[in-house]
Amino acid sequence: MNISQHEALVLHDHEPTTDSFKEDVLAGLIQTPKRIPSKFFYDERGSQLFEEITKLDEYYLTRTEISILQRYLPEIASLVGPDALVIEFGTGAGLKTNMLLAALDRPAAYVPIDISREQLLDASLELVEAFPELEVWPVCADYTESFSLPKPNSRTAQTVVFFPGSTVGNFTPDEAVGFLRSVVASVGTGVNLLIGFDRRKETATLEAAYDDRRGVTAAFNLNLISRINREFNATLSADKFRHHAFFNTLESRIEMHLVSIVGQSIQLEDTEIRLSEGEHIVTEYSYKYSREAFAAIIEASGFELVQRWSDSREYFDVWYCRVTT
Ligand code: AVI
Repeated sequence: MNISQHEALVLHDHEPTTDSFKEDVLAGLIQTPKRIPSKFFYDERGSQLFEEITKLDEYYLTRTEISILQRYLPEIASLVGPDALVIEFGTGAGLKTNMLLAALDRPAAYVPIDISREQLLDASLELVEAFPELEVWPVCADYTESFSLPKPNSRTAQTVVFFPGSTVGNFTPDEAVGFLRSVVASVGTGVNLLIGFDRRKETATLEAAYDDRRGVTAAFNLNLISRINREFNATLSADKFRHHAFFNTLESRIEMHLVSIVGQSIQLEDTEIRLSEGEHIVTEYSYKYSREAFAAIIEASGFELVQRWSDSREYFDVWYCRVTT
């Protein structure tokens, strides 16, 4: 690990490998069905499009979670108590992090963990300015692998892992349990979890959220084609693919696919990949949980529910859990 000083910040850099794009895309495109991992959506353009998605009328998730936090943060803060250490996996949630830190009683330290060094440092510097009393210890790491965490200088009374945004929904249930267990392994016992997830609801509402009228989600999905062209120096035509999103009721997940409109051969360096007309490439799963199904995930991960909050339509839940092991 490399530790470097950046103005007001000390960065714990585990130097994660970020260049697995080509390898992972090739491996995914020779599988049946073909797949591209959803983590590759978030290049610069993809991150901008995701920001736009969060503001769409149809994409209720972000604004609903924010409304839950706005309403119940005083209660959340009293459960957490003073002098907390807040750990966040991913730094994409600027506004929600600010809201949480502002509501807590004298939060002692904040540890954001992200694979993208630049985004991590920018977000951390903003927090140092907004909360001058707070210790901020950014960690650059791939959080799906194990790594050590910095130890804050101040005494911390509680540790809270903040995992908002229904990001947990982009894991399969087994992956979610594996991830939450690895959180306990790297953060240690005594950890509490503040986690947001999207609830199962009627198909039309779910499908509209992933296939909006303005086509922003379609552009977000099709941006993978531009990224493939850029990284492989390839010449795929985005016009030969279309966005497809549907709710798989059996698996309780939204699936996003790219569908090949025509039969085509694509050349990715030395590999030629054949797509038949109408063939699907799976690009994302977004699981939608009932309370019972999510309770099973939490329990299998070694946590128990302390308190949960929802919105008036019961679209989204935020749970505060404590580790049992
Ligand atoms: C980041 N994640 C929780 C989003 C979701 O809703 O699954 C990603 C997304 N995909 C399409 N729209 C938003």
